[in-house]
Amino acid sequence: MLLYYKLLQYSPCMYKSKDMEHTSPSAVLSHVYLFCLLLLTPLVSCQLDYNFYGGTCPSLTNIVRSTVWSAISNETRMAASLLRLHFHDCFVNGCEGSLLLDDTGTFKGEKNALPNQNSVRGYEVIDNIKAKLEKSCPLTVSCADIVTLAAREAVYLAGGPFWVVPLGRRDGVTANASAANEQLPSPFEPLDNITAKFAAKGLDLKDVVVLSGAHTIGFAQCFTFKPRLFNFGGSGKPDPALDSSLLQSLQGACPNQADSNTKLAPLDAVSAYKFDNVYYTNLVNNSGLLQSDQALTGDNKTASTVLYYSKFPLFFFKDFGLSMVKMANIGVLTGTQGEIRTNCRVVNNG
Ligand code: HEM
Ligand SMILES: *[C@@H]1O[C@H](CO)[C@@H](O)[C@H](O)[C@H]1NC(C)=O
Ligand SMILES: *[C@@H]1O[C@H](CO)[C@@H](O)[C@H](O)[C@H]1NC(C)=O
Ligand SMILES: *[C@@H]1O[C@H](CO)[C@@H](O)[C@H](O)[C@H]1NC(C)=O
Ligand SMILES: *[C@@H]1O[C@H](CO)[C@@H](O)[C@H](O)[C@H]1NC(C)=O
Ligand SMILES: *[C@@H]1O[C@H](CO)[C@@H](O)[C@H](O)[C@H]1NC(C)=O
Repeated sequence: MLLYYKLLQYSPCMYKSKDMEHTSPSAVLSHVYLFCLLLLTPLVSCQLDYNFYGGTCPSLTNIVRSTVWSAISNETRMAASLLRLHFHDCFVNGCEGSLLLDDTGTFKGEKNALPNQNSVRGYEVIDNIKAKLEKSCPLTVSCADIVTLAAREAVYLAGGPFWVVPLGRRDGVTANASAANEQLPSPFEPLDNITAKFAAKGLDLKDVVVLSGAHTIGFAQCFTFKPRLFNFGGSGKPDPALDSSLLQSLQGACPNQADSNTKLAPLDAVSAYKFDNVYYTNLVNNSGLLQSDQALTGDNKTASTVLYYSKFPLFFFKDFGLSMVKMANIGVLTGTQGEIRTNCRVVNNG
């Protein structure tokens, strides 16, 4: 188990990890070598640090954990919602909390962009955590780091893996609604398009398959998959790649009329609230919910990875942590960039 967690710590900033004090000289050398290699890659920020708030906000982890725990106790789905909030923050302008900013008379944020409006949830939980942190350690912890940690805790509390994540992100002072519309993946676009959107953020094909495993928890509105039930690709028929008994139950939950559009169905019909590898066994069984989910078995570049995770849940867990750390590094602001917001919904003096 220890080894397992150590593996998870391999990230650009591991040279700052406390573990280093206990590693052998040759391991240190190879880490230094790794670090030098990584210096050449522009995407990583080595100002993130595993112990960033160790001296300034020691209660951080406990506050995030207990608040996320209460939120999930009140509403189990909140684990999924917090995970998705992090993804949608990171994919637009990087992981810098721009998604949290409310619209004002003069400022148009991302919350009301198409993929987010009436869809992304969990803002109140982030506000609660922020309010507690402003009491314990004022002006210290960024909203971007809160979102990152809340997603990590949510996955763990839903039965999934735990991973260590470097901190020190700072909050952005702008948001970009049109970037949210353009850069977030749609469930209706082909896998190659989705892969290209991930690649634009420094994430590879394996990350696409691994991170899609987040759909082992949570819900989707009927309109996000309804064409598969009644009129797939204009054929007038259901998607042939959808298991017939799941098709029947989804047609019941989402009748072919506009007023069913916002009804909900579980992304993983077998275990909607448990973070496990059943997303992948579902895909193998033609029981993915979104067209973009099932597409992972329809392409030989990804099908074997799906099969692998359907058989080896612990490898999915390990790889999910690694890909989440990668995602959490997208476009981060560090050092003196950005700011530490006092209220996650507005920029300071804004
Ligand atoms: C690969 C491309 C992806 C597409 C096309 C996609 C699409 C969607 C859609 C359409 C929904 C339902 C939204 C609604 O009906 O309001 C959804 C829900 C969700 N997505 Fe994704 N997603 C993708 C990747 C991801 C990633 C990378 C993560 C996290 C790492 C993620 C986490 C979630 C979660 C947890 C939910 C359920 C949220 C809830 O119940 O509140 N998704 N996704
Ligand atoms: C509990 O969850 C419900 C939705 O199920 C929500 O309306 C309510 O605000 C939540 N209460 C708290 C204290 O989080
Ligand atoms: C917002 O994002 C779009 C790309 O999606 C880009 O063309 C535009 O320049 C961005 N606007 C700002 C103010 O950064
Ligand atoms: C997929 O990407 C291609 C190339 O960028 C684009 O022309 C096409 O419209 C996209 N398809 C969908 C369904 O978004
Ligand atoms: C289909 O999924 C179920 C679990 O949902 C699993 O028990 C079964 O083995 C799967 N079947 C195949 C062919 O993978
Ligand atoms: C994958 O599929 C493509 C076209 O669908 C085909 O050309 C290629 O040979 C296949 N590769 C493998 C390894 O099966």
